[in-house]
Amino acid sequence: MTAEKSLFTSYSKTIQDGDLVIAYVNPLDMSAIHVKKDAVLNNKYGAFLHNNIIGKPFGARVESVKGNGHIAFLHPSPELWTQTLPHRTQILYMPDIALVSEMLDLKPGAVVVESGTGSGSFSHSIARTIAPVGKLHTFEYHEERVLKFKDELVAHGLESIVEVNHRNVCSDGFGLEDVADAVFLDLPSPWEAIASAKQAFKKGKVGRICSFSPAIEQVQKTCLEMEKNGFYDVRMFETLIRRQDIKTIQKRPLPTRDVVTGHTNNNKSKKKPLAADEEKEKDNNGEEADVVVESDQANGALKEGQVIVSKTVARVAGHTSFLVFASVFVEGDKAVVTADAKTVAETAMDLEDGSNAGDESNAGKRKRSMTDDGQKS
Ligand SMILES: C[S@@+](CC[C@H](N)C(=O)[O-])C[C@H]1O[C@@H](n2cnc3c(N)ncnc32)[C@H](O)[C@@H]1O
Repeated sequence: MTAEKSLFTSYSKTIQDGDLVIAYVNPLDMSAIHVKKDAVLNNKYGAFLHNNIIGKPFGARVESVKGNGHIAFLHPSPELWTQTLPHRTQILYMPDIALVSEMLDLKPGAVVVESGTGSGSFSHSIARTIAPVGKLHTFEYHEERVLKFKDELVAHGLESIVEVNHRNVCSDGFGLEDVADAVFLDLPSPWEAIASAKQAFKKGKVGRICSFSPAIEQVQKTCLEMEKNGFYDVRMFETLIRRQDIKTIQKRPLPTRDVVTGHTNNNKSKKKPLAADEEKEKDNNGEEADVVVESDQANGALKEGQVIVSKTVARVAGHTSFLVFASVFVEGDKAVVTADAKTVAETAMDLEDGSNAGDESNAGKRKRSMTDDGQKS
């Protein structure tokens, strides 16, 4: 399979023998399988004949042999692969991958250097972004992970875009010079790879680097090493997910004050017993909060005192890693770091984007759309 035919970089309408598909039961129950003529998928929802899947459009719901269950077979994508891949290591998830792709300014044709490869979660997304003519050079020192990822690249038709190298980048460097538009590090000691990463950047052009680390001590060492090596505009971000649930609540009446006695009536005595469709909720201070009611408004009407609110769901699982971004402008063997050099670097970036003083370059857009605290403006 070639990159043009890869299901990760292009779209196909119908499921063919040999295709990778995502067997989708619900968002928490998905698995990636290769469709094979005469094979059977057995799980708790029944037996599913692969012959019944071949020829169906991607997304089709297929019944089990006994008709007591059904599964949808989805088109693979880097997003779904990240949710279903065999974990060989900790992996990057979509919120971080999205931010990294945006901040490294990745696009078709870009040349990216990555280490470590790990389970290849990040690599799959990058491959799609830089396809069809870009290149990802990914480095991993664990031999078995390298071999498994090589097999996956062939099975997924990505071997012309992604080149996996078996190498310890901290002790032996990347061995690359003047090739990279961007570098991404997900390593236990990224600071040991910074000097060699600098050599990999294309000369005479602004390059972008990102390092992903779970501990602030790693971040500190990495930032110091970046500055020592002439990287500038060093910034750290953390991606947090905040889920919001939409709920209908029954507002409790506000307390009133008796003008004669001065006593506050908090309406406790007047509180109605909860109906069957109501549940007690605690607010953030552990106090009893407004009552959440099961929404049964088929016609969209609310009962008296009811309002629809958006509530933050506490303790949403998310990543706790820090993303350090920086830029570098390599001229010859020397990174330029003076204020003048930054102007040269930014001008170079603008020229590369084909913009003039009046145009909004990508570099400019990125600066304007992201405020210092990382919020979209
Ligand atoms: C957390 S995993 C990377 C996960 C990857 N970003 C993903 O999304 O699947 C870190 C990987 O770096 C590799 N690694 C650690 N130190 C390394 C080094 N010095 N050179 C190359 N690879 C290294 C580890 O073997 C591990 O597979």
